[in-house]
Amino acid sequence: MGSFKRLQYICKTLETYYTELISPKASTLFINYVEARDLKNINLPNIGYLSPLKKQQYEAKELGFEIPNNDKKKYEIVITSIPKSREEALGQVARAYKNTKFGGVLVLEGNKRNGIGSIIKILSKIVQIDYQTSKAHGKIAIIKVVSRRIGTFSTWLDFSMPSKNKDGFFSMPGLFSYKNIDPASQFLSLSFNDNLNGNVIDLGSGWGFLSSKLLKNCRNVKSVTLLDHDQRALECAKTNINNPKAKFKWADINETTALGIKFDNAICNPPFHNNKGKNIELGKSFIKAAHNNLKSRGSLLLVANIQLPYENTIRNLFHNFQIHSENKYFKIILANKPKRKYDHALV
Ligand SMILES: C[S@@+](CC[C@H](N)C(=O)[O-])C[C@H]1O[C@@H](n2cnc3c(N)ncnc32)[C@H](O)[C@@H]1O
Repeated sequence: MGSFKRLQYICKTLETYYTELISPKASTLFINYVEARDLKNINLPNIGYLSPLKKQQYEAKELGFEIPNNDKKKYEIVITSIPKSREEALGQVARAYKNTKFGGVLVLEGNKRNGIGSIIKILSKIVQIDYQTSKAHGKIAIIKVVSRRIGTFSTWLDFSMPSKNKDGFFSMPGLFSYKNIDPASQFLSLSFNDNLNGNVIDLGSGWGFLSSKLLKNCRNVKSVTLLDHDQRALECAKTNINNPKAKFKWADINETTALGIKFDNAICNPPFHNNKGKNIELGKSFIKAAHNNLKSRGSLLLVANIQLPYENTIRNLFHNFQIHSENKYFKIILANKPKRKYDHALV
């Protein structure tokens, strides 16, 4: 989302035209700017950082930025990076507006591909855009907060909070398949039929559909750990799954060595897109995480679009695997017995 070139331009603009806001006493809030380390190289006062993603928030904390733990504090400067989902963007802008002090500025920045142009257009119908420019394949807009009333913004605030989706689960804009159950996950859930037991890990659990089905259809499951890097997804999952067997772990898939226990089974509908676009390596890192966190006789049940090339990775990491079932669009792969270092020498 955020680009360093645009960020540098924003800083220069604020220094030139909004000088009164850049005092050592003032404070700045970044919402969803991807690379927290960029913020070390800019000259804005007292930086706070908000992101629902574990890795981003962890990095910002390590770099010494404030991580606000509620919505109450108000900032002279709020800079929000616009995400792709229109509803998520409107919810985020509304929250950002609420976080801006009376007399302060709200800055929107984002890539044109993510639709920042149309968000600025919508905004221009309800507030005056004080400054606007195109920069580094994106746009920047600055709004002066001149009223304490949040008016139309208050209706957009609903987009930044969980609500029931079409299938009766709590979800919210910005989460994967937030409006309804994902068809690939639906397909995988049809294979849950008292076939899984013990301690299970749901890798990339999202708002919890797979785990909720698992707990209903596999009575011998002792526990299920829902792991996701998005805090909002886990908040929704906690509301959707009211079962003492469920545990929730906010973690990035690449830091799963910290889980402490080995699991009997893993279930997964791995992502293959990140903020830069299609990324099969991300999907593969979920297979690696399953491999690292399963017992030696453990198994992974994974669903993927039929054309996605996960088989080689699975072959390298598991003693055996098979296509459990498939249809025109999706395949379910069942992989058994993760290879250990010493096993690699044998096969
Ligand atoms: C394809 S969705 C599946 C969601 C859910 N299991 C379902 O079936 O609806 C993949 C999930 O992986 C999560 N995810 C993406 N990248 C991640 C990462 N690096 N670490 C942990 N979780 C990640 C996303 O937030 C998303 O919820």
